[in-house]
Amino acid sequence: MNQHRVLFVASEVTPLIKVGGLADVVGALPGALAPLGVEARICIPRYGALSSVAMGETKNVLTTTIPWKGRSIGVSLLEGRLPNSSVIVYYMDAPEMFSAGGVYYEHDTEHGTRLAMERFVFFSWAVAHCTPRLSWQPDVVHCHDWHAAAVPAMLTVLGEQRHTVLTIHNIEGQGKWNAAEVLQWLGLPTGAHAALQPRDLQGNLNLLQLGICTASVVNTVSPTYAQELLTPQYGQGLEGDLARRPGGVRGIVNGIDTTLFNPETDSQLPARYAQDTVAAGKLINKRSVLAECGLTAGSGPLFVVVGRLTQQKGVDLLPGIIPDIMNHDGRLIILGSGVPEVEQAITTAITPYPTFCRAFVKFDAALASRLYGAADFFFMPSRFEPCGLGQLLAMRYGALPIVRDTGGLHDTVRDIRRHKDGTGFVFTEPTTEALRAALQDALRVFNQHDTMTAARQRAMRYDCSWSRSASTYVTLYSHA
Ligand code: GLC
Repeated sequence: MNQHRVLFVASEVTPLIKVGGLADVVGALPGALAPLGVEARICIPRYGALSSVAMGETKNVLTTTIPWKGRSIGVSLLEGRLPNSSVIVYYMDAPEMFSAGGVYYEHDTEHGTRLAMERFVFFSWAVAHCTPRLSWQPDVVHCHDWHAAAVPAMLTVLGEQRHTVLTIHNIEGQGKWNAAEVLQWLGLPTGAHAALQPRDLQGNLNLLQLGICTASVVNTVSPTYAQELLTPQYGQGLEGDLARRPGGVRGIVNGIDTTLFNPETDSQLPARYAQDTVAAGKLINKRSVLAECGLTAGSGPLFVVVGRLTQQKGVDLLPGIIPDIMNHDGRLIILGSGVPEVEQAITTAITPYPTFCRAFVKFDAALASRLYGAADFFFMPSRFEPCGLGQLLAMRYGALPIVRDTGGLHDTVRDIRRHKDGTGFVFTEPTTEALRAALQDALRVFNQHDTMTAARQRAMRYDCSWSRSASTYVTLYSHA
């Protein structure tokens, strides 16, 4: 087998720095590729928020300067390892560009958008400059989302012919900014490079679009989202560019780290369990988590939501069904952070039900595990969902997902009402009524003990490991 070398370029990686599911993919896929003969390394910015304790031991492997706004900025590449792993990470160190703020600044303000734009244009530019000078030379540069999407075009601008892959984890983030200004940052004359021409009437450069038009291969994180992206409803203006890709856009479903996420060994769970002990194990975990969250004990089901609280996730559909949950002595626990308006709306909606519902506006991996281990059902009513990892984690822990029929949710959850091998409930319309109908059926299943246990066991048997998808990525690298 040919040994491929692949450099991942991304803005986040678990367990070092995480905002969303992107980090989990970047953190897990390299490890899953190793047994398939691919050596993948990761390059991320060295943010101020990244503690040197988390980074562990590093060595400086490259020092150089990058042209920026008419002067030069010094950068170093520090080489270290992903915690508890043999995967090598390059930290792009340029304090002036990476030490302030969090990962993305506040992207709902003009100022925050500008800072994030400068940060990731610089990062991509620096990656394009540094990659050819590494002693370890990748065959493929694998860029993730808009933060790294300009790398293929920038390599071309620097005269580097490289094989590149762009993975779209979410088309909402595109990175648009005035092209003339971006060229000025890069120190390039206007109109000098065909690869960096603006494609909209306002004269903006769109980094994700740039990646779509210049990467050797483009893919996304589920087959259904790959199809949806070609429509105006989901394509966010880039459907035309995607449709023009000669090789099309491939959809490869994400996996999860099944060693890390395992109800048989998860130290967060008061009762660890396997398929044959799931019903008893969950009962113990549920009692414990309800007490921890200050909710009263009850005989009804526990519903949980774990995820970013944003428009995308459709959590605004939930307040309408709280009375239905209460009428069946159910409990609802929500964990996640996101957009202030959505966070606020959720907290307000559950305030009248202090003994039945609880919301934690934060990200807490340990509590998330305890919730998966206790939950009977897992809500994910997303408006769109490129892949979704929550539903995979839920199934792994025997919690039945109740999801909207879109993107990766469509590809990973089969409806119990229509399929013998179903593992959850899938509804189509993004409305409270449609969600309520699914909920009613879920409550019925919950009351049939054997049916419920069998469904939990099927969910736990669902293969959500990286192994299958990792080999599809190997094929993709060969195409690149
Ligand atoms: C983004 C998407 C999510 C996907 C994740 C990893 O967060 O919204 O659906 O699972 O990226 O690819």
